[in-house]
Amino acid sequence: MSSNSENRESWNTRLGFIFAAIGSAVGLGNIWRFPYMTAESGGASFVLLYLFLLFLIGIPVMIAEFVIGRKTRRSPVKALASAGRYDWSPLGFLFVATGFIILSYYSVIAGWTLQYMVDSAGGIITDYDPGTYFDAISTGKRSIFYHTLFMVITTCIVLAGVKRGIENSVKFLIPTLVLLLAGLGFWAFFQPGSGEGYSFYLKPDLSTLFSSSFPYVNVQILADAAGQTFFTLSLGMGAMITYASYLSRDEDLVEETLIISLSNVCIAFLAGLIVFPIIAAFNLQGEIGQSTISTLFIAIPKAFQSIGGAWGSFLSFAFFGCLFLAALTSGISLLEVVTSTLIDQFDISRITASTTSGALIFILGIPAALNLGWLSLADQIAGNLLLMVGGFLLTLYVGWTMYEAGRELRKGLNIPVVGLWIALIRYIIPVVMFCLVLLAFWDISYGMLSDALPK
Ligand code: TRP
Repeated sequence: MSSNSENRESWNTRLGFIFAAIGSAVGLGNIWRFPYMTAESGGASFVLLYLFLLFLIGIPVMIAEFVIGRKTRRSPVKALASAGRYDWSPLGFLFVATGFIILSYYSVIAGWTLQYMVDSAGGIITDYDPGTYFDAISTGKRSIFYHTLFMVITTCIVLAGVKRGIENSVKFLIPTLVLLLAGLGFWAFFQPGSGEGYSFYLKPDLSTLFSSSFPYVNVQILADAAGQTFFTLSLGMGAMITYASYLSRDEDLVEETLIISLSNVCIAFLAGLIVFPIIAAFNLQGEIGQSTISTLFIAIPKAFQSIGGAWGSFLSFAFFGCLFLAALTSGISLLEVVTSTLIDQFDISRITASTTSGALIFILGIPAALNLGWLSLADQIAGNLLLMVGGFLLTLYVGWTMYEAGRELRKGLNIPVVGLWIALIRYIIPVVMFCLVLLAFWDISYGMLSDALPK
C-alpha cells in the first residue's frame, strides 16, 4: 500500500463509513464510563452538562477532524504536515501516542468483558460473589490472556483492511449491539423498584454543579464532562481524521457528524436506562461510589446473580456481550490510527503495520493488566488530559493555520453552517478548551496530590 492518496483505500458505501464512525464512538465510554461518571457526579445534572459540551465543542471538533481527513486523504501525521501553513506533524505524533496508550488499557478492560461473557455462558458468574470474582480476574494471568485475545481479534479485523475488515464487521456488529441493548433496557423497565433509578438519572439537581466558594463551579465535574465528551466521540487523537481519510466522495459532513454524535448519545443514554434502573431495582446503590472502574463490573452482575439460574446467566452474557461488541468496534478505530500512520510513514504493507502496532500495544498494556492503579492513571492521563490537549491544539490548527477549511466543509453541504463553525473553531472553542485543559490538569494533579498525602 502506498501513501499516495490516489490509490488509498476507501469505504464502499456512505453507510459503511457512518457505521464505522458510530462503532468508534460507541464503546466502553458509553456503557461503562458514562454511567459511572454520571453516578459519581450527581446524575442528571452531569448528563445535561455533557449534552451542552457535546453541542458546543464535540460536534464542531468532530467536523474539524472530518474536514482534515477528507481534504488530505492521509493519516494524521501526514495530514497535519500538509494541510496548513506550518508543519504540525508533531501534533500527529501526539495523536498516535495517545491512541497507543488508550488502546493499551482499553484492551485490558475489553478483555474483562470477554471473560465475563465466557464465564456467564458457563454459569460461573452467577455462582461467585461478584466482588471476589472481579478481584480474581481483573489483574494477573487471566487478565493478560484475555487482553491478548482482544488484541488478536482487533488486529485480525484491522489487518483485513478498510472495506473487508472494518466496514463488513461494523455493519453487522452495530445493529446487533443496538438490538441487545434495547432488549436489556426493556427488561430493566419491568423490574419492580426500577423507578427510583430513572428519577436519579433523569431529574437534574443543579446544585451538584456549583459550589459556594471559589472557583464556584465543581471543577471535577466540569473536567470529567469535557473529558468524557472527547473520549466518547473518539475525538482528540485523529481517529475521525483517519476514518474520514477513506471518504472518496463529497458528502455532507455536518449531516454525518450529527448522525454519528446523536447516535452515540442515544446509545449512552440507553446504557443509562439499563444500568440505573437495575441499580435501583436490586438495591445496589451502596456499590456506586465505592470504586470507580469496577462499579459496572461488580454491581451489575449482582443483579444477574439475584435472578440466578439460566435466565440470570443469559442476561449477563447478553450485557457483557454488548460491552464486548462496543469495545471491539472502538478498539478497531484506535488500532487503525496507528496502523494507517505506519503505512503512510514507512510505506509498509497493512499486514506488517497492523501486526507490529498490535504487538507493541499489547506489550504496553501488560502493566495495566497487572495493576488497576496503572490502568486508571493511564485513563486519566491519556483518556482525559491528552485528548483535550490534542483537541485544543487541533482547533488552533484548523482555525488559524489550515488552508481552505471552510471551503472543504462547504463541499456537499446542505446545511449552511460554515460561518458558525468557523467562528466556533477559531474564537470560542480554543478559549473554552484552554480553560478546560487547565481544569483537567488541575484536577489530575490535585487528585494525585491528595492520594499521595497522608489522610
Ligand atoms: N469512543 C470510544 C468509547 O467511547 C473509545 C475510543 C475509540 C476513543 N477511539 C477513540 C477514544 C479515539 C478517544 C479517541 O469507548
